[in-house]
Order: sequence, then structure tokens, then C-alpha cells
Amino acid sequence: MALGDTYGRQLRNLRISVTDRCNLRCAYCMPEEDYVWLPRAEILHFGEIAALADVFMDLGVDKIRLTGGEPLLRRELPRLVRMLAAKPRLRDLAMTTNGVLLAEHAGALKEAGLHRVTVSLDTLRPERFAALTRRQSHAQVLAGIEAVTRAGFSETKLDTVVMRGVNDDELAELIEFGKRAPAEVRFIEYMDVGGATRWSMDQVVSRREMLAMLEGRYGRIEPLAETSSAPADRYRLPDGTVFGIISSTTAPFCSSCDRSRLTADGVWYLCLYAQRGVDLRGPFRRGARPEELAALIADGWGRRTDRGAEQRLAVRERSPLVQLAHLKADPHLEMHTRGG
Ligand code: GTP
Ligand code: 5AD
Ligand code: SF4
Repeated sequence: MALGDTYGRQLRNLRISVTDRCNLRCAYCMPEEDYVWLPRAEILHFGEIAALADVFMDLGVDKIRLTGGEPLLRRELPRLVRMLAAKPRLRDLAMTTNGVLLAEHAGALKEAGLHRVTVSLDTLRPERFAALTRRQSHAQVLAGIEAVTRAGFSETKLDTVVMRGVNDDELAELIEFGKRAPAEVRFIEYMDVGGATRWSMDQVVSRREMLAMLEGRYGRIEPLAETSSAPADRYRLPDGTVFGIISSTTAPFCSSCDRSRLTADGVWYLCLYAQRGVDLRGPFRRGARPEELAALIADGWGRRTDRGAEQRLAVRERSPLVQLAHLKADPHLEMHTRGG
């Protein structure tokens, strides 16, 4: 069954955060010293996640992406992957990871039936990585990316959040690295989402600037004509290499957005920028039947008016979306809880 929101956007794509914990502290996502974590008893068990996924699939979801925090911090993740991969209605089962623990788990994830992996890689320089993430795990991430290819995954992607004065001089090197991996590199504009408490517009490198820099190095860059709900605009270099740009800050894709996200404690958010979510854990644990949960979800999606990133475009003097005190009072507002 296909379900449309108030703009006719279909619910197709569900991002499931399996933990709010992370083993890095990226400057654009977790810049603070202390965080409030979700209570352990409220974290959904694998069986609960799989049951909720079934309800979403009844309503038309056919793409699921596992996210975090860092999903590989969740113990026995391959067991969840196996449960989800067994569902015939799922066309695409992917995971977004920071790569630190990937070398250990790539084989088991592939064996469990995961289709695709996206790894965050913001820099090729170990000292920059340490400054950007406040951890010394760069070599592990590179080993993780190698392990993905070795484990037999294809269609791997590398996501780079581009920040002015931090890594904006590495775009071409990252593309070259992607060619060797092999993986499609995507450059992401720095977003003013919850959690990005140090965000400012002057640190954002726009898609336009990125393209100008890359044209300086490679010559003419051809946009690929494609209509899809994917967040990245894709481009081709003269040698045929394809890369993407996710311009959520300067040119959002809200009009074709088919995604929503489930936090590790079972709250369903319809937009990355939304201030409120729909609690599914409560009804589920009180014994709601699948039809009742489906009605709750269908109702939420049917009323969906979100176009958070587009609305941010209209804000003059843009500053971080959510103030620190609010993030501490409700960690669901954090990007790392919502899973990107
Ligand atoms: P595929 O296209 O299926 O490979 O996945 P994806 O690109 O959606 O997944 P990924 O986790 O790699 O997302 C890439 C980045 O896009 C995220 O980390 C965010 O920075 C951004 N992003 C993801 N979802 C949204 C969204 O709903 N709205 C906006 N504005 N940006 C998003
Ligand atoms: N801007 C853009 N992307 C972000 N991510 C987290 N915070 C931000 C932000 N402020 C995304 C990145 C990263 C993934 C884990 O979450 O894509 O790779
Ligand atoms: Fe979708 Fe909201 Fe992101 Fe726009 S800002 S693309 S509506 S999640």
C-alpha cells in the first residue's frame, strides 16, 4: 500500500537508529563534552525493531537504513540484519557507519544479508581526523573501508561533510581515494541540524563552490539527469567517475523526501528538523496490534507537512537550529539520536 503525505510524498524510506551512542565526537555532530543518553530500558530490542519494521512495510516502506549514533556499537547487530534481510518486501537494506569497527564486522554483516554500506570519511589525514573527531581511529576507518570491499560489498558510498577551513581542500583527494576503494564519494553541505551547536553559515561550503573547485581541477563536470528521491545530486567527471553532492543547506530536496526515522527508543520522526516525534514504543509495549500501529503511522504520515530544510532557507541570520539547553532536555533533538 502506498501512502502519500500532504504534498503527495510517499513513505518509502525508513532510517532505523539502533543506538544513540557513538565512538567519535565529530565537530559537526557531537561537539560538546557531555551528552544525555537514552535510558537503556527504553531501547528497542531486535524483535521489537523487526516487528515495527513489518508495520512500516505494510504501509509501503521498502528501503531501510540502519544508523546510529554508531550502529556497530550495538551488540550483535548482524543478528538484526539477518532478521530484516529475511523480509521479502525489503528491496534495500543499508547501513551508515563511521567505519571504526567495520573491519571487525564487515564479513558478518555481508553474511547476514546487508546489501550496502555507507561510510563517513571526512579527511584522509590522520591528524585532521583526530582534531575533527577527538579520537585517534583514522587507521581503523581506512581498514574498515578496505574490509567492506574485501567482504564482497558493492555500491559502497563515502560521505564527507565539507567544512570551510577544515577539509575543503581535500575534495579531489577524496574523489581519487573513492576511485581506488572503489566507492562513490558524496560531499555533504554542513547542516544546521540539532546537535550542530557550533554551526555557522560561513563554515558552509555550498554545492556551487564545491563544483567550482572541482572544475578547476578536473575540467568540465557533467550533471547526471535523474529523478529520484535520493538526497544526492550526482555528477560525472571527464574520466567517467561519478560523485554526489548533498546540498541540504543551500538547495534542499524536501519536495521529493520519502524518508522518516525511528530512534533507538522507538520515537518516529518525520523530518530531520522536526521538533516533535510520534512515540511508537509506548503503544507497542502496551500491546497495540499491528493494525493499530499502522493506523498511527498512516495518520502521522498523512498529515505530514514537513519541509524542514526548505524552511530554514527562509531564515535570515541563520544560527544553530536547537539551543544546547533544549538538546540536554530532549536528546531526541540531536542528530546523533535521530540518525541523520
Ligand atoms: P542512499 O541514497 O539510499 O544511499 O542513502 P542516503 O544518502 O539517504 O543515506 P546517508 O545516511 O548516507 O545520508 C547522507 C546524508 O544526507 C546524511 O548523513 C545527512 O547529512 C543527509 N540527510 C539524510 N537524510 C536527510 C533528510 O531527510 N533531510 C536532509 N535535509 N538531509 C538528509
Ligand atoms: N551536517 C551535515 N551532515 C551531518 N551529519 C551529522 N551531522 C551533520 C551536519 N551537521 C551526517 C553526516 C555524517 C553522518 C553520520 O551524519 O553525513 O557522515
Ligand atoms: Fe525531508 Fe525534512 Fe530533510 Fe526536508 S529537511 S529532506 S522534509 S527530512
